Order: sequence, then C-alpha cells, then structure tokens
Amino acid sequence: MNDKQQKGRMNVGVDLGTSSLLVYVEGRGTIFNEPSIIAVDKATNKVVAVGYEAAALVGKVHDKVEVVQPLQGGVISDIDMIKEILLYTFEKIFVSTDKKINRLLMCVPSGITETEKQAMAKLGEVLDVEDIRIEEEIKAAAIGGGIDIYKALGYFVMDIGGGTTDFGVLSLGDLVHGRSTKVAGEEFDRQITNYVKEKHKLEIGPQTAEKIKVHLASLTGDYPEDEEGNIVTYNAMGRDLVTGLPRMVVIEAHEIRDILLNCFEQIKATLIATLESTPPELSGDLVDTGILITGGGALIKGVKEYIENVTNVKVRVCSSPITAVIDGTKKLLKLNAHHYYGDY
Ligand SMILES: Nc1ncnc2c1ncn2[C@@H]1O[C@H](COP(=O)(O)OP(=O)(O)OP(=O)(O)O)[C@@H](O)[C@H]1O
Ligand SMILES: [Mg+2]
Repeated sequence: MNDKQQKGRMNVGVDLGTSSLLVYVEGRGTIFNEPSIIAVDKATNKVVAVGYEAAALVGKVHDKVEVVQPLQGGVISDIDMIKEILLYTFEKIFVSTDKKINRLLMCVPSGITETEKQAMAKLGEVLDVEDIRIEEEIKAAAIGGGIDIYKALGYFVMDIGGGTTDFGVLSLGDLVHGRSTKVAGEEFDRQITNYVKEKHKLEIGPQTAEKIKVHLASLTGDYPEDEEGNIVTYNAMGRDLVTGLPRMVVIEAHEIRDILLNCFEQIKATLIATLESTPPELSGDLVDTGILITGGGALIKGVKEYIENVTNVKVRVCSSPITAVIDGTKKLLKLNAHHYYGDY
C-alpha cells in the first residue's frame, strides 16, 4: 500500500443505542451524538432525516412519513433501517472527506442473536468497510469507564440505557456472563406518562415524560435542588383528559421517586440474579473491584447509594456515563482481532 492510500483510511467506532447513536473517528474524537431515530418516506423508501432532525418529527408526521427507532429494548427491530441510518449518518459526517473506513467497530446489545450479529457484520459490504467488528456494548462500557478488563480479576458493570439495563461480569478481557432487563430509561418515561395520566388526568408526550425524569429523578437521599436550595418541581404541559384542552400540572420530585423505586424493583431483581450466578472466585473479586454504573440512568441522583444498599458492594458511577461505550471503542479499535467477539 502506498503512502497516499494509507492516509486515506480511518478507523471508526459506533455505539448504536436504543436512544442515541454515537460515532467516534480515530484522530478526530466523537463527532456524532444524536438520537438513533430515522424518518423515511414510505412511498419512495427515501430517508428524510436522522438524529435530531428525525426526533423533531416524532408525533408530528403525516402518514406518508414513518419515524423508526431501529433498536428497541435491546433488540434489532429493523436491520434495513440500521443500514439506512448508518449510511445516511456516515454520508452526512464524512461528506467533506475522501477517506475510506478501514476498520469499523460496532457495539451491539448482548441480547441480539447470532443471526442478527451476522446481519450486522454483513453491513460491512454495503458500507464499503474492509474490516468490520461486532463487540458487546457492556464490554466497551467497562473499558470506557476506565476498567482494565484484561486482568485476571472479576469486574461487574451495570449499564442503565434507554432500552435495557445490562449487567455484565467481565474477566480476562471478555464477558463471563451477563443479563439484561427491559426496565430502563424509556420504561421509566412510560411509567411517568401512565402516572401523570392516572393521577393528574393529563396526557403528556414522551419528550415531556423524559424531561420530567431528567429534572426530578432520584432514588434515595435528598431530592434534587435548584441553586437556592429549593427542591425542584417540573411544570408539565399536556392535554387535559376530560376537557381535551391544554393544561399544566406541577410534578414534584417525590412522585417521580416513587415511580422510579417501583421500576428499580425489577432492576434490583436482575442485578441480584446476575450476582447469584457469578462464579464464586469472580464474585469474591467484586468486594475489591466493586460495581461500575454506566449509561444515561447513571445520572439518576442517589443511584450509587441505592445499589450499594442492595448489594453491600462499593459502587462507582462513571464520570461520563453516556459516552462510556463510545469511549471504549477508542481503546478497542487499537487492539488485535483475537480480543474481539467474533471473526467475521
Ligand atoms: N440526567 C438524567 N437522569 C435520568 N435519566 C437520564 C438522564 N440523562 C439521560 N437519561 C436517560 O438515559 C437514557 C439514554 O441513555 P443511553 O444513552 O445510555 O442509552 P442508549 O445507549 O441509547 O440505550 P441502550 O444502551 O439501552 O441501547 C434515556 O432514557 C435518557 O432519558
Ligand atoms: Mg447503550
């Protein structure tokens, strides 16, 4: 290969999550971080928008345009849409460069099937990528969270994402075992929506539910406060169920805590089940290595104390939980093939 060709190649990492799509380019950093949503014209099958532009269309499109979230609850709902979202995004971000992707590392949920993994790997041909690698999200999250998973020590990672909360025990560079539950950010939003409807007789949209959560979420300890030390409330706008007219209600932090505590019962059960099925030697290591929490849900106030109470194990919340997986791809891209999930 001559020098000119060498310069025209780049290595790329992708975290295709339920909520967000992140793209990392070696030498340039994380250059894309937008909702993993795609809008398609149903008649022509042409992509209308991806990312923020597509998210802005949710609930507002006519029946000729379809807005799709290609990954749902840790499951690929539409492989063609995954291809389209990647093609469109790559075209958008690499428009000013004549470089070709040499190595593409795609992080996927641990729950997807072998057939789906192979289908993802086949995307390499469509995307004109020489070397495509599929990696477990939870492994990338551990590395991005600063863990040296290649040691002969057991590590426990918990990723509270949008579609799933994943649990993984890692040692010697790989996932020893893992579990997953669909109770995660989007389910919290659904429970908030149901609650506001039942209790306040107000219909709210998914974006409002998410905003309520982000502003008020807490599991234990003090409720979130503003700069003056007052407990935060959220003015939620929606449609009155009885009159059909727009109305506002004030949501308080204790209401959201009760909803989240309820959701966390399932998360707690899966966490305990994962710990119970961890081999004893690795389980013993966890006393020292503790539990790392990544994903957007790591930003919930009091999550560290809550999980410490449940497990009696030291918990660390990742300092940049939303970018942990993509940060992990940065290191994984530099490693040799035998460390990876599969040889596609
Ligand atoms: N401050 C916050 N408090 C609570 N939840 C938050 C906060 N910020 C973001 N979230 C939630 O985190 C979720 C997104 O997290 P993340 O980006 O880790 O998910 P993802 O990787 O797209 O999903 P998955 O890993 O399940 O496929 C969303 O549900 C979002 O509402
Ligand atoms: Mg994720």
